[in-house]
Amino acid sequence: MGKVFVCDHPLIQHKLTLIRDERTNTKDFRDLVDEVATLMAYEITRNLPLSPIQVKTPVTEATCYTISGRMLGLIPILRAGLGMVEGVLNLIPGAKVGHIGLYRDPETLQPVEYYVKLPTDVQERQLIVLDPMLATGGSAIAAITALKNRNCTQIKLMCLIAAPEGVRAVQEAHPDIDIYLAAVDEQLNDHGYIVPGLGDAGDRLFGTK
Ligand code: PRP
Ligand code: URA
Repeated sequence: MGKVFVCDHPLIQHKLTLIRDERTNTKDFRDLVDEVATLMAYEITRNLPLSPIQVKTPVTEATCYTISGRMLGLIPILRAGLGMVEGVLNLIPGAKVGHIGLYRDPETLQPVEYYVKLPTDVQERQLIVLDPMLATGGSAIAAITALKNRNCTQIKLMCLIAAPEGVRAVQEAHPDIDIYLAAVDEQLNDHGYIVPGLGDAGDRLFGTK
């Protein structure tokens, strides 16, 4: 079974509180999501393999370390996942970005795929699927399935807020996937919104409501 990591660093929790607050305006919301994505990227990259290289410092020659092995790929789920891309790229500027467009049908809550554009070498990359919200889990499950159908094998999921229902659903559908979160909330309401959550992530990021 994949592991669930809740990133409980005080900076992340403080910024998440501001993100949740309904008084936070669109610009601040966007900036805060960006900052939390950067902080979470620090956690999610903790186990990247290092290789030794020789470096000549102004003082002497030394054995130092660089990140080696798999290249990274970021896969934001449109729209709201876009809000996390720049924050992760701040730490991993060499990552390639692929996009998966999904929206949740408001009646059935089922994800509907409308766009997929991935790096040509996506199968060789360590992928991080980005979406602020893991509610029923339908969107994350569909995005991960779309990647696996294209022979991707190294996939992690990074979200800000999850409902317990969504975590369970992803674990059942994709037991090999590790999930990185800033918080696990209480539950979903009758409209499939996370409680207490932050409302509609896409609308708050892009000011569409
Ligand atoms: C939101 C959110 C996730 C999805 C989560 O997107 O960004 O993608 O809902 O819900 P789920 O876990 O029940 O699938 P939405 O469908 O509202 O689209 P948007 O990002 O374009 O606003
Ligand atoms: N999508 C959102 O944007 N917010 C929720 O609470 C659930 C799904």
